[in-house]
Amino acid sequence: MCGIMGYIGPRQALPILLDGLRRLEYRGYDSAGVAVLADGRIETRKAAGKLAVLESAIADRPIAGRAGIGHTRWATHGHPTEANAHPHGDCTGRCVVIHNGIIENYLPLRERLQAAGHRFRSDTDTEVVAHLIEEALEAIPSGRPDRMEAAVREAVRQTRGAYAIVVMSADDPERIVAVRMISPLIVGLGPDETLLASDIPALLPYTRDVLVIGDGEMAVIEAGRVTLADLDGRPVARRPEHITWDAAMAEKGGYPHFMLKEIYEQPRALHETMMGRLDRDDEVTLDGVALPEDLVRRLDKVWVVACGTAFHAGLVGRWLIEHLARVPVEPDLASELRYRDPLIVGRTLAVAISQSGETADTLAAAREARRRGSRVLAVTNVVGSTLAREADDVLFIRAGPEIAVASTKAYTTMLVALQMLAIHLGLRRGTLASARAAALIGALRHLPLQAQQALERSAEVEVLARRWVGAEHAFFIGRGLDYAVAMEGSLKLKEISYLHSEALAAGELKHGTLALVTPQTPVFALATQRTVYEKTISNIQEVRARGAEVIAVAYDDDAEIAKYAQTVLRIPPTDDLLAPVLAILPLQLFAYHVAALRGHDIDQPRNLAKSVTVE
Ligand code: F6R
Repeated sequence: MCGIMGYIGPRQALPILLDGLRRLEYRGYDSAGVAVLADGRIETRKAAGKLAVLESAIADRPIAGRAGIGHTRWATHGHPTEANAHPHGDCTGRCVVIHNGIIENYLPLRERLQAAGHRFRSDTDTEVVAHLIEEALEAIPSGRPDRMEAAVREAVRQTRGAYAIVVMSADDPERIVAVRMISPLIVGLGPDETLLASDIPALLPYTRDVLVIGDGEMAVIEAGRVTLADLDGRPVARRPEHITWDAAMAEKGGYPHFMLKEIYEQPRALHETMMGRLDRDDEVTLDGVALPEDLVRRLDKVWVVACGTAFHAGLVGRWLIEHLARVPVEPDLASELRYRDPLIVGRTLAVAISQSGETADTLAAAREARRRGSRVLAVTNVVGSTLAREADDVLFIRAGPEIAVASTKAYTTMLVALQMLAIHLGLRRGTLASARAAALIGALRHLPLQAQQALERSAEVEVLARRWVGAEHAFFIGRGLDYAVAMEGSLKLKEISYLHSEALAAGELKHGTLALVTPQTPVFALATQRTVYEKTISNIQEVRARGAEVIAVAYDDDAEIAKYAQTVLRIPPTDDLLAPVLAILPLQLFAYHVAALRGHDIDQPRNLAKSVTVE
């Protein structure tokens, strides 16, 4: 996600801000900016692209001052341009804001503020905060000592979402005000200076004494001093912590690898994917998607194009769209589609899925679909990516930057995006009853917490990984949606543990592959789909009869499964259509632990790259 850095103290702020931002670069960003308090005024410099571009803009026009804030932006609202880079100012230019996360209700706020005469200079959700503070300041008498805090509190009161904001005002030059609403924010304490950052690595060269701002808390930082309060202004007492991690560990939030960090980020990422989209029980609001009524109602086909993990997400999407919206769906590996002569019949919607939005084959397939007359809807993580720019509609998965090559949080957030799309299409086409939609929406809202519960069982998975670390082959079987998850579980294991594995539709085993099953082969059987549960059990018995050991992935309330499988990895019960989001979690952890025990380079597995921009 975006990076935040702030400084107030006796030194020049600018070099410290730039150094901190550089230490946050690993999080990914597409534009950057700084604001420094200089001689009673705020000077801002911003640039699209890497920090080097910002630095050369600053070299042309340097700024001196002892308080400042800086930001690296990973675009969520509005393209990654200089105008959309933070900090954002109010109409007077005397107050600036930087922000991580999403202001969910920014659109009605922006409309109201514009109607009241506020001038907006960017497309961001962030800018509303600057104008809300400006509006609040006008209503507070100028002599009041906590005027700034009161104005920020009033702005926060009007916004919804998961975010962190940092505010600096030329009218209150001795302090910087910060609020955390879920998105992390940390204060660094020096003897006569104070720093702020969204992540610990940015602070480590300056101090190892930090104070983590809690959810719903405000920090007022002054040189060498910090005051914490809740949003009603009541003081909060907290002791600073002393950080002993080295810089590399700090970048990973204390996790040994980015992959593990990203696995554990999934509950929050899922929450962000749904944010603002599931506010009602009878509707799914998909910002960025404006499919014409006629196309939705009279769709003849949905064409899913993607590669690798994104393709596996597409297979789940196929199931859901066919089931809920009653449209035939054809999933195509993007690399294959280009070289056949696909038939486009009637009205087709192409859904191109890609975390990076830069995968060469997926881009080419989306272009081919467009050339043949399809409208293209992109499901992607990266705002401003080629796919996002070229598509007619874009559904952002909002997973945050994914650094490990093996995709985890992008997969589960793609699943939720596709589940929401399927419900949206089903409701608009009249093929999905509103009561069923409400049940699905309710179950979706539970997923972040349930994902958290599933991940808390990591210790059992680690024990299993120790047992199988020496295996040479593994199989993953399942039926229906479980088969799609089996494919993703198998890919995760292959790419980081280098253990050979294969996913099979459970009913296909006896048509050949059963010959390979031996007591040395672990067989992961996914058993979450209640309509085919008995059939899956029969397939489990087939492999058990060949001496294989079966590890099932099943719901907590499944009392039967332990009779058939030697090990059961449990997940909280949900609607079967949503089960893939939870069922993949123990499989991601298994792949991770096997690879860790084998001593592999988990974040950068051999022969693989994060973004495949060649054919
Ligand atoms: C596997 C993995 C790859 C990608 C594939 C497509 O963990 O990450 O299989 O899913 O290369 O990448 P995107 O989604 O960026 O198009």
